[in-house]
Amino acid sequence: MPPLSYRSPKTEVRESKIHGCGLFAKADIARGEIVAIKGGHIVDRETLRREIMPRLGPVEIQIDDDLFIAPVNADERDLSMLYSNHSCDPNIGLRGEITFVAMRNIHAGEELTHDWAMTDDDDYSVECNCGASNCRKTLTGKDWQRPEAQKKYAGYFSAYLAAKISNHSRAAGTELT
Ligand SMILES: C[S@@+](CC[C@H](N)C(=O)[O-])C[C@H]1O[C@@H](n2cnc3c(N)ncnc32)[C@H](O)[C@@H]1O
Ligand SMILES: [Zn+2]
Repeated sequence: MPPLSYRSPKTEVRESKIHGCGLFAKADIARGEIVAIKGGHIVDRETLRREIMPRLGPVEIQIDDDLFIAPVNADERDLSMLYSNHSCDPNIGLRGEITFVAMRNIHAGEELTHDWAMTDDDDYSVECNCGASNCRKTLTGKDWQRPEAQKKYAGYFSAYLAAKISNHSRAAGTELT
């Protein structure tokens, strides 16, 4: 079966200090370059929680309030996984909803991480193991609402979250600059 997701040939999956396996640069990557594109099936939250996560674990990315992209069976799991871990000091972000690009020039050997604040609007709260000096320690599914995250990740939020942020700031009369 062909891969469902795309991982740049400049990347490799190997053991990570953050968690399990991570996605790493095996060559220098320039700012703006595509690092990975998530593929799979489009599923709703209920299907994800009830049918997919119990069998396959955390394999999805969120693409709208109630929509996610994920593999749906064990054969598809590795074909869909990007293996990008979360970091509070990330080096990749979103272009659209499924395409991950480098937010800065990245050196060979660096782990490729995104901040879940860029993709998630959910109700979880989990301990972070990213090890960054600016680590938030506790991650929540509402971190996209944090003003510092909105400033830091402007241009790199998933498109559905960018739309929410722009609607919220318009409603509050505080358009981000
Ligand atoms: C899509 S997986 C990423 C790949 C994963 N490391 C693996 O080996 O399958 C996301 C899961 O990795 C773990 N994870 C990733 N980043 C983390 C972090 N900064 N702190 C704690 N757990 C993390 C969590 O268990 C999360 O549900
Ligand atoms: Zn962290």
